[in-house]
Amino acid sequence: MRFPIDAKLKDGAPIRLALADTNDVEPLRRLYQVIVEEGTSYPHDRPPDREEFIDYWFRGKSTVVAYAPDRDLGSEVAGAFYLTSNWPGRARQVANAGFIVAPQWRNKGLGWLLGATMLEYAKWLGYRSVIFNLVFAENQAARHLWKKLGFSELGALRGAVRKNDGGYQDAIIMFRSLIDDPQR
Ligand SMILES: CC(C)(COP(=O)(O)OP(=O)(O)OC[C@H]1O[C@@H](n2cnc3c(N)ncnc32)[C@H](O)[C@@H]1OP(=O)(O)O)[C@@H](O)C(=O)NCCC(=O)NCCS
Repeated sequence: MRFPIDAKLKDGAPIRLALADTNDVEPLRRLYQVIVEEGTSYPHDRPPDREEFIDYWFRGKSTVVAYAPDRDLGSEVAGAFYLTSNWPGRARQVANAGFIVAPQWRNKGLGWLLGATMLEYAKWLGYRSVIFNLVFAENQAARHLWKKLGFSELGALRGAVRKNDGGYQDAIIMFRSLIDDPQR
């Protein structure tokens, strides 16, 4: 599979998906800080430092960033995903992925484009399925998007996630096979 991928969003804005490199670490970390401050989609309750962030988003992972093709190097990114094995050894062909889209880029189809690209890339890398372990139940945009991309909701981890108001919400496990016959 070849990167970069050039596409257009619903509003016609051009977007480029590229394999991340070290220039992307800080812009992506700044975006992840925004996501952590929102507190509605990822488990961190404080911004990770650079090393923690690299561990979570880069080390041992395939990371793809989306940005406006005319942006300056190292400037803000529009969105990203990482792709990795969810388990080692016999279950290493089950992938796990994480997604973020900057607030000002949402609802233009970028999440869908990142998701569809992740599925294609995961197949290309030899993964047989993808699991999302912790989709916050109240994250309706994410649940809607993953269902649209063929994921099923397998179950709920009751009250797994502490919310900003001190209450708790469920987390949903979502799964999608990438092959026709899972026994082979
Ligand atoms: C989830 C996220 C990646 C989606 O990115 P996006 O670029 O807005 O995605 P898209 O524009 O492709 O699609 C969003 C879809 O959600 C829908 N949506 C948006 N808000 C919604 C809501 N509150 N309830 C239900 N659906 C909603 C949109 O209508 C759209 O669906 P449609 O294309 O069928 O109309 C983005 O909101 C995000 O980064 N959120 C914070 C991080 C996150 O949640 N990551 C995923 C963790 S599992």
